[in-house]
Amino acid sequence: MATAATTRWEIADAAPKIGTIIRTDKDTLLSGSRASEIREIMESRGVIVFPQINLTDDEQIAFTHTLGTFAYEDGEGAKEGKDTVYPITMDETINPIASYLKGAFYWHIDGTMSAKPILASIMSARALSPVGGETEFCNTYASFEDLPEDEKREIEGLNVVHAMWRSQLYWKPEPSFAELQKWMDRGVNTLPLVWKHRSGRKSLVLGATALQVEGKGIMESEALLVRLRDWATQPRFVYRHTWSLGDMVIWDNTGTMHRAMQYDHKSGRLMHRTKLEGEEAFA
Ligand code: SIN
Repeated sequence: MATAATTRWEIADAAPKIGTIIRTDKDTLLSGSRASEIREIMESRGVIVFPQINLTDDEQIAFTHTLGTFAYEDGEGAKEGKDTVYPITMDETINPIASYLKGAFYWHIDGTMSAKPILASIMSARALSPVGGETEFCNTYASFEDLPEDEKREIEGLNVVHAMWRSQLYWKPEPSFAELQKWMDRGVNTLPLVWKHRSGRKSLVLGATALQVEGKGIMESEALLVRLRDWATQPRFVYRHTWSLGDMVIWDNTGTMHRAMQYDHKSGRLMHRTKLEGEEAFA
């Protein structure tokens, strides 16, 4: 007589307002049987950690497909017609455009230069830095919801101009003119400061690409953006993930900001990332 396979599914909070840790097995993840629950937890808690789940690249790709539409990295993979993992590393022999990833050391949301940002990223640790290299996440739903009511009213309806070059200036404050022009080719994108999601919930849209609040002077605009970033990234809204090899983390890119903590760029730290296509435009 065949015995029913036992599956592991243990859930715990990572931090009070953000992050859930799920201890499970590969078969459960790859079967897709928990996909809708994973999506619900991702939306309500922002980040899910699967400690030392040790998925291979092919398994990570298959798992990504169980959750939604697989997103290609700016044409990567799509060109060749195959799904691939994207290497996050400072090693230019592995990723020739590694220097662009240096913007990742500052709080950001992926896809602020598009109308519809990616829904989520899924990242697995392949090689670690002996020091640093943790990833921090903050909950932009909870940080909006906990603002005083008068402040919510004050910022709802404001728009912010975002620019990719703004985030590049964080790590390279004195680029050559040619380099700046290359960054500026990406243009600018105006987004609401408070995103009203179709679920009815609202989240803050901030991060290193946020350049200027429309209708405000330079100082007032900068003060507002820095004050809100400071608010949204205070410890009660943050989960810091200290990686072990084989960990996999998913985060809801539409309700969080994230950043990598500094590490030795020659340490060989390597993460493999897949992404889910966006399902909702900034509104
Ligand atoms: C990212 O910003 O997508 C990468 C974060 C990290 O390397 O920890």
